[in-house]
Amino acid sequence: MSDHERQTQVIGVASGKGGVGKTTISVNLALALVKLGKRVALLDADLGLANAQLLLGLNAPYNLSDVIAGNKTVSEVSINHEDGLILIPGASGNAELANINALTAQSLIQSIFNEHSDLDIIVVDAAAGLSESNLTFMRACGRRLVILQDEPASIADAYGLIKLQSKEQRMHDLFVVPNRVPTQEAGRQLFNKMNGVCMRFLEEPVNYIHSIEEDNVLTLATRQRENIFTNHSHSKSAKNFTALAEALAKAAPE
Ligand SMILES: Nc1ncnc2c1ncn2[C@@H]1O[C@H](COP(=O)(O)OP(=O)(O)O)[C@@H](O)[C@H]1O
Ligand SMILES: [Mg+2]
Repeated sequence: MSDHERQTQVIGVASGKGGVGKTTISVNLALALVKLGKRVALLDADLGLANAQLLLGLNAPYNLSDVIAGNKTVSEVSINHEDGLILIPGASGNAELANINALTAQSLIQSIFNEHSDLDIIVVDAAAGLSESNLTFMRACGRRLVILQDEPASIADAYGLIKLQSKEQRMHDLFVVPNRVPTQEAGRQLFNKMNGVCMRFLEEPVNYIHSIEEDNVLTLATRQRENIFTNHSHSKSAKNFTALAEALAKAAPE
């Protein structure tokens, strides 16, 4: 394997609006990538409202706020999930951290690269919205998934985020991921709608891989801290996340 192939791929999971499924998708995408044999870390960068650890049923003694305060290193706060996933826990309920500046965010990302240099993929559960710290995290991601649902507020806010990415010339590795859609076909249509808006107003297309369908099994499994790949491997969501993971694992970006 060449050095280039060995490089860690960083996948950001973002949205304009909160509550559209970023954490659910980050956690399950990371688990699906582990299932494919990848070495994966999940970075909870939603610094204001951390919940990736809750979804994994983990209780982290330390988190990113200890790293930012200079009391711990990234590897000291990282925890190994039983399924082989490394979680880098966020800092819940600390409003100051939700507004960290670009410099702090940048050095945090650098420390993660330095201390976890053997990873194939880092999945970043980003905060919703367009705060400077969030955009900094997004800039560090080689690929960005913009999660949206089929409702006006989610579509409008996703477009706001995409528009900023277009200004930064980052559209070629941006993927729109429709969530909670009734069928793959409906997801494709929602993507087409967003792509149409982007073509018209930004004169650039966005990319598509796969949609995540509405799935009761996923809601229940999340509530019970169950791994859908272990306990519900034939569920719609296990299939959807595996398809997403396979496409993202296949080709690392330049
Ligand atoms: N595809 C889906 N099917 C069913 N429930 C979902 C799906 N995606 C997300 N949810 C539910 O929606 C809620 C919000 O999801 P969450 O991942 O916490 O959003 P965010 O991180 O964007 O705020 C959670 O209760 C989650 O279980
Ligand atoms: Mg979340």
